[in-house]
Formats: sequence, C-alpha cells, structure tokens
Amino acid sequence: MRWVLKVGLAALALICAMPVHAQNGYTNTALSLEGIGKAYMGRDIAFVMGFEGAEWLERKERAQEEGTVKLLPILGLKSTDTVADIGAGTGYFSFRMSPLVAKVYAEDVQEEMLTLLNARKAKGEGANVTPVLGSIMDPRLPANSIDLILLVDVYHEFSYPREMGLAMARALKLGGRIALVEYRGEDPSVPIKDLHKMTEAQAKKEMAVTGLQWVSTDSKTLPWQHVMIFAKAK
Ligand SMILES: C[S@@+](CC[C@H](N)C(=O)[O-])C[C@H]1O[C@@H](n2cnc3c(N)ncnc32)[C@H](O)[C@@H]1O
Repeated sequence: MRWVLKVGLAALALICAMPVHAQNGYTNTALSLEGIGKAYMGRDIAFVMGFEGAEWLERKERAQEEGTVKLLPILGLKSTDTVADIGAGTGYFSFRMSPLVAKVYAEDVQEEMLTLLNARKAKGEGANVTPVLGSIMDPRLPANSIDLILLVDVYHEFSYPREMGLAMARALKLGGRIALVEYRGEDPSVPIKDLHKMTEAQAKKEMAVTGLQWVSTDSKTLPWQHVMIFAKAK
C-alpha cells in the first residue's frame, strides 16, 4: 500500500510543479519568427497578424486565391441571424455578411482594426455591423446571443484558444454554430506557413474541449481551407 501512496504523492508533486498553463493543455515551445513560444494540445500557436497587414486581407487576388465568394453561400445564413465575425480584421467578411443577416458583431483584439471597421461604417457601409473590441481571452459578446460565429484564418492565432473556445461556446445560442475556417494542414500544396494551418483532426481535438459538437467538414469548396462546423447542442 505504501508504494501506492508514494507514487500518488510523486504524481501530485509533479502536477503542482507544472506551470498552470501545462495543466490546461498549454506547454512552452521554442520561440520562432512565426510562433509565440507556446503550444496548445501539441499545436504551436502563431503570432497575431499585425494591423500593418490589413492591406493583405483586402488584396484583389484574395477572392481568386481563397475562393472567398464561395464561403458565405455554404454557411446557411438566415435573414434573422445574429452573427459574430471573430478576428474580423478589416471586416472583409463582416461587411459581406451584413446584407444577408440581421446583425453582425465584428470583433477583434487590435484597436487599429476597429478604427478601420469604424471608418467603413462612417462611409455608410454596414449599418447593422457593430465593432467590438475583445480581449485575447474573451470576445466580450453577450451570452446565448449568437446564431453563427465565423472564424476565418484566426483561430490558430488565438494565444488562449481554450479560454476563447469556452467563451465562444457561452456566446452561442442553443443550436448556434461556429464555422472554423483554417488553411488545410494536411495539404503541403497550400502555400501557407505550417503554423498558420490546421489539420481537421487537431481542430476537432481542440474544439472538443468547448463542449461543442462537430457537425461537418467541407474541404472541397474552398481551394486552400477547411470549413469545419461545430454546434452547441439544443
Ligand atoms: C489573419 S487576420 C484575419 C482577419 C479576417 N478574419 C479575414 O479573414 O479577413 C486575423 C485577425 O484575428 C485577430 N485576432 C487574433 N487573436 C484574436 C483573439 N484572441 N480575439 C479576436 N481577434 C483576434 C487579429 O487581430 C487579426 O485581425
């Protein structure tokens, strides 16, 4: 019996010695040009794309390269929907969703992105688009209020994906969905650096923590990205 106690105490000591992060799926990794020096469930987390890259999001070739026009039609948006574009950046998708739904929250953690969103609104675009300044752990959206959260090319940049995932799940209505759009990590022909891609298996593993249920994965409609749908059970 004594050895059981000893092993138990040794395990407890090991857990207590671990940084809090490691207990929540976070571990430290090597800092690199692309990665913040932290991994979540074995995936290195990428640096946040700075507002200096805003023009890249609005580049003309994007529509062709990423087939952006094909994304919204496969999301099943309804005119009564409240949607949230988390990590909205310049609002590339927020303003395109605006005429299709009742309300759009365009959320980002960079104030400079909010300035760009507000500048577009000041020009008369997107009357139903509400810019929201979130934190790196919480998008600051009302609980149980969102029909669809759109995440395009942002989840892999979350420095706290676990906390963001749980907060997003809280913000969804029952039956609400997350559309997780990420460059395909399984496909070496997708010309994006590895830390900015995700595999379907990794996405499913991470989203399982949020309590949301996987619904579908579409890896054919967009040329470079998966569109993965997760829903909050009714
Ligand atoms: C590569 S851009 C994509 C922007 C937009 N979704 C698009 O496809 O045009 C990523 C954006 O996510 C934002 N971001 C990164 N971490 C975030 C977080 N924890 N919460 C909200 N936004 C975040 C960045 O500030 C940046 O504007």
